[in-house]
Amino acid sequence: MKNIVVLVSGGGTNLQALIDAQENGIIKNGRITCVISSKPGVYALERAKKHNIPSRVVARKDYSDAVEYSKAILAALDEEKADLVIYAGFMTILDDLVVKAYPNKMMNVHPALIPSFCGKGYYGLKVHEEALKKGVKLTGATVHFVTEVCDGGPIILQKAVEVGEDDTPEILQRRVMEQAEWKILPQAAALFCEDRLEVRNDKVYIKK
Ligand code: GAR
Repeated sequence: MKNIVVLVSGGGTNLQALIDAQENGIIKNGRITCVISSKPGVYALERAKKHNIPSRVVARKDYSDAVEYSKAILAALDEEKADLVIYAGFMTILDDLVVKAYPNKMMNVHPALIPSFCGKGYYGLKVHEEALKKGVKLTGATVHFVTEVCDGGPIILQKAVEVGEDDTPEILQRRVMEQAEWKILPQAAALFCEDRLEVRNDKVYIKK
């Protein structure tokens, strides 16, 4: 059974999708053993509590810079004996020292079809604002392994979502979550826990 540690910073609807998948038996060979938040008081922590999942707050504001913060996160991940680390709306960029310690063991959900609308500065609602500004007809979500390159790691799963002419960023965000993020993030976690994800030459192959 793999230990899954989920990193959050906000409302935690993606965390909820993972909890539901665990409870519905979709994630077979793993359990969420800890939720770590970069902010105190966020609703994601309530979700963990409701489901008796231990949580920790490692607050970004308590650390002087990204390296010191990353060392604290790494120490927490090591203590939790994490086999898989999932960024589920985790809004803090970590130093490479964390990624190097967990190669192809950290995954992130991004609310666009990478390589569109991604990289530094593209997070949360901003991603959907930019998609609407460009007038794309399709957007979606991507789950990828985390590497040193922001939103640049090997792509595990993607799902497309239609953009409506009257969409606001909030409406589009909700549709992308419902139709894409909440589906592909648990699927990717399940595949990882079943040892079905293989990375070769920066590409992910899914074993049958
Ligand atoms: C989600 O849409 C997630 O894809 C996005 O933030 C939201 C968090 O919502 N993440 C990023 O933009 C990371 N670059 P949640 O807290 O309800 O899961």
